[in-house]
Amino acid sequence: MSGGADRPASAGVGGAQGSAGKAPVSALLLMGVSGCGKTTVGEALARELGWRFVDADDHHPPANVEKMRSGRPLDDADRAPWLARLNALLRHSAARGEPVVLACSALKARYRAQLADRLPGLRVVFLSGSQALIEARLADRRHRYMPASLLASQFAALEPPEEAWVVDIGEPPAALAAGLAARVRAGTD
Ligand SMILES: Nc1ncnc2c1ncn2[C@@H]1O[C@H](COP(=O)(O)OP(=O)(O)OP(=O)(O)O)[C@@H](O)[C@H]1O
Ligand SMILES: [Mg+2]
Repeated sequence: MSGGADRPASAGVGGAQGSAGKAPVSALLLMGVSGCGKTTVGEALARELGWRFVDADDHHPPANVEKMRSGRPLDDADRAPWLARLNALLRHSAARGEPVVLACSALKARYRAQLADRLPGLRVVFLSGSQALIEARLADRRHRYMPASLLASQFAALEPPEEAWVVDIGEPPAALAAGLAARVRAGTD
């Protein structure tokens, strides 16, 4: 594959994307730390596109839920069956021609690789914002699984994706959803 000379370095909604000739989008992974807006933006985006919305939080085994409730972060052994289940869901949906917006923190590259396994139509959307901004938003929110005290560990664990549509979460959810939907419709990677 020859190097692309005219690829933009970055963009507001979006950013440099990988090689040309990608499979059509069959799923969007909205990723980032707790409180970055995965559920809020993801629901709005799925509504806008008429796609199914899936929140990864709803697919945890009970043991994981209990662990998070008690304030302990999950380890990779806890995550493996959960990510495999989500990957299977995305692949089955793609096979049926039913695109999905998936909200999942997917902080590490290997979690994203597990989600993307045999799913060439998956695109990663990174909801990016400062810890201070997200802390303020979490302070206003009661969440069933995620005490705000775990936010610092989330930022420590975060491996920002090298290949993603990068979104600045300073904008309102509706504007973010509209921008992402436009990008999907335009079919530009
Ligand atoms: N772009 C935004 N502008 C303003 N407020 C927002 C934005 N996105 C999300 N919020 C608010 O921030 C809080 C956290 O958002 P949300 O619950 O969607 O985050 P999340 O990434 O799904 O978190 P978790 O990983 O814990 O599920 C909510 O109260 C939500 O209303
Ligand atoms: Mg959420």
